[in-house]
Amino acid sequence: MSDQNADAKPNILITGTPGAGKSYLCERLAEQLKFDWLDCSKIAKENDYIEEHDEEYDCPILDEERLMDHLEPLMQKGGNIVEYHGCDFFPERWFQAVFVVTCPNKTLYDRLKERNYNEKKLSSNIECEIFGTILEEARDSYKADIVHELCGESAADADKSLKTVKQWYRMWKRK
Ligand SMILES: Nc1ncnc2c1ncn2[C@@H]1O[C@H](COP(=O)(O)OP(=O)(O)OP(=O)(O)O)[C@@H](O)[C@H]1O
Ligand SMILES: [Mg+2]
Repeated sequence: MSDQNADAKPNILITGTPGAGKSYLCERLAEQLKFDWLDCSKIAKENDYIEEHDEEYDCPILDEERLMDHLEPLMQKGGNIVEYHGCDFFPERWFQAVFVVTCPNKTLYDRLKERNYNEKKLSSNIECEIFGTILEEARDSYKADIVHELCGESAADADKSLKTVKQWYRMWKRK
């Protein structure tokens, strides 16, 4: 990327189980780093990049191809923080860093309960966190040295995560 444009900013992926604290972190990160926050669930909803609705789990099934066509030109420009609760379908070349937000089960359970998730959706998301599914997905999809874990439980954790990502960005700029 830097061959084409020396001033180009990197693209950062923030992933993790629903409710783990991605948006909470992305909002602050985007503001502090002056990056654009691209919340894939929101973009998919606004543009109807939804193939169908999964009744059992009460969640939309994403039209990944159309979402990626939408994102491609934005990613070319750089300077994006992309948020999504999955990460294996994005082109690997898009991201210079991948941060997986994780959250202790008890806190996650309370957050999802507050969202009134049905029992099936609630337990599948808690299992996803217990088994470290997204962390594994990230490690399977990207080079191990660009995948980092962040805790999304408390405001103090978010402050720590902000520092970690800013530090990563400082190092990236020096390269
Ligand atoms: N670090 C944190 N400290 C305190 N509260 C938090 C933190 N992170 C998230 N929360 C709270 O937990 C709830 C869920 O967080 P958030 O919306 O960021 O999750 P998410 O990972 O973006 O979920 P989704 O996958 O559905 O987009 C929100 O009410 C948010 O305010
Ligand atoms: Mg979110």
